[in-house]
Amino acid sequence: MRDNEFDVLVVGSGIAGLSFALAVAAEGWRVGILTKKNRADSNTNYAQGGIACVTSEEDEFDSHVRDSLEAGDGLCDEEVVRAIVREGPRRIRELIEFGLRFSQGEDGEFDLGREGGHSRRRILHVKDMTGKAIEEALLAQVSRSPNIVVLEHTFAIDIITRGKLEGRPKGESPEDDRVVGLYALDVHANRVRTFSARAVMIAAGGIGKVYLYTSNPDIATGDGIAMAYRAGVPVMNMEFIQFHPTTLYGSDEKRFLISEAVRGEGAVLRNMDGEAFMARYHPQGELAPRDTVARAIDAEMKKSGSPHVWLDITHHSGEFLKQRFPVIYETCLESGIDIARDRIPVVPAAHYNCGGVETSLDAETLLPGLYACGEAACTGLHGANRLASNSLLEALVLARRGARAVVSYLENLPRAPDPLPDWIDYGGHNEDERVVISHNWDELRRTMWDYVGIVRSTRRLERARTRIRNLAQEVHDYYWNFSVDPSLLELRNLIVVAELIVECALRRNESRGLHYTIDYPEKALFPEPSRLRRMPEKKLS
Ligand code: SIN
Repeated sequence: MRDNEFDVLVVGSGIAGLSFALAVAAEGWRVGILTKKNRADSNTNYAQGGIACVTSEEDEFDSHVRDSLEAGDGLCDEEVVRAIVREGPRRIRELIEFGLRFSQGEDGEFDLGREGGHSRRRILHVKDMTGKAIEEALLAQVSRSPNIVVLEHTFAIDIITRGKLEGRPKGESPEDDRVVGLYALDVHANRVRTFSARAVMIAAGGIGKVYLYTSNPDIATGDGIAMAYRAGVPVMNMEFIQFHPTTLYGSDEKRFLISEAVRGEGAVLRNMDGEAFMARYHPQGELAPRDTVARAIDAEMKKSGSPHVWLDITHHSGEFLKQRFPVIYETCLESGIDIARDRIPVVPAAHYNCGGVETSLDAETLLPGLYACGEAACTGLHGANRLASNSLLEALVLARRGARAVVSYLENLPRAPDPLPDWIDYGGHNEDERVVISHNWDELRRTMWDYVGIVRSTRRLERARTRIRNLAQEVHDYYWNFSVDPSLLELRNLIVVAELIVECALRRNESRGLHYTIDYPEKALFPEPSRLRRMPEKKLS
C-alpha cells in the first residue's frame, strides 16, 4: 500500500481514537491516525477526574445507571446507558493490562473518588492526572503496533464520499453513499494531501474553543463534528454545552481545571461574604449535578458583581492535598495560592459538549464507512447533562464497539482503493486580509460567551445567530479564494459548531439540563432530542 492508502483513518489521538485504532489494528487492518498537532496533544490529557465505573462489590450497575439518568434530565437513552455502564469493567481491565496503575489506598483497593451527581464513590483515577496517564499507556501500545501509522501535524479537512466523486445531486441521502477517503493539510509541508480509506473514525470532538473561556486546550475546535456535519450526517443535542463549575480564575482566557474531585473530598463553595451557598440551591450541595452548580455560581457572581467565587479545601492538610491533587496543588502555587491555606478563586468555563454526531451504540453514523466516538459522538449516554467522569468511560466502550463494527464493515467491501482526485488549491495566502481570520476568531468566541452561555434568552440567541451568519459568509469566501491553513480551518469548523449550538438552542423551547433559557424556564412535557442535518456539499474540495 502507498503511504496515503489505509483501510481505516482515525481523526484524533485522544483516548477514543487510540483505543479504536489499537482494536482495529489488532485484527490486521492498516490504520492511520491523523492528528493536527503532536500525538500527545489531546483533550484526554486534560481530564483530571477519572473514569466512572462500577468496580467495587458495594457499588451496583443500577446505581450508576440511575445517577447517569438523573443527571441527563430525561434525555438519556436508557438502553445505551445500561450497555455502556455494564461494559465498563471489561474496558478498565484492558487498560490495566496495558500497564495503567489507578491510584490505590493503603489496603491495596482502588482509591475511588466522588464527583457531582454520583450517589457514591466510583471514580477510578490516577491522582489528578488520569487522562494523561491513560494517554501515555495507549500511546505506548500504539508505538508497538506495526499496523498503525501516526501522522502528526496532519489536519483533516473533509471527508470524500463516492457520491461526491460521482457528482451526485445535493440532497441525496447519505445512507446510499459511502466514505472513500479524506483531504488533510500537511501542516509542515503546507500542502493538502489526499488519503484513501474505506472507513473513517471521527474522534476529534472537543469544542471548548468556541467559547472565550474554556478548560479545554487550544486544539478543541470541533473539527470532527464540523467535518461530519458537512458530509451530511445528523448532529444532535448541541445546545447541551457543559460549563465546568470550577476553573481557576485568572487574568488570561485559559482556564485551568480545578477537578470536581476536589469537591468530592469536601471542598466548599463560598460567595464573597464567605457564605457556603450551595445548600440554598440543591440538597446535594457541592455535589449536585454540574449544571446546577454552574448556574448557582453564575447567580452568585451576578448578585455580588464579583468575577469569581471561592473554593475552600483548607480543612485538608497540605500533605494530603499534595498527594491527592499534585497538579492542582502545584499549578495553584505557581499563581500564589497555597490551597492548604488559601481559598481558590474559581469561575465556570466551557468544558464538554454533550451533543455531537448522532451514532448508534456501535459508533455508526448514517453515512456508511463513517464512525464517531468520544466527545464527537452523541450516543444518548449523556442526555441533557453528562454525569461527571462518564466521558472517558463512553470513549473506551464506543471505541471498542466501533472497532468491531468497522471490522465487519470492511470484510464486506472490495479491497482496492477508489482513485481519488487531488485537492484544488484556489490561490495563495492573502496576507493583507489575515486580519479577517484573527478578528473573526475573537468575535465568534466573545459572541458565544456573551450570548450563548450558561443562562440564555431567545433574543440573545437570535443576536448570536445574526452575527455568526455574517462570520460564516466571510470565512466561506475566504476559504474558497485562498489557500487553507490551520487557523482558517479551525475557524471554519468553529463557525459550524457555533451555528449548530445556536440552532439547537433556538429549537429547544424549554429549560432542561444544561440548556437554561429565561424565556422558557420550565421543562416541556414531551422533550425530544434536537437533531440537525445538512445536505452534502457538491463541490469537491
Ligand atoms: C473533573 O475532574 O472535574 C472533570 C472530569 C470530567 O469532566 O468528567
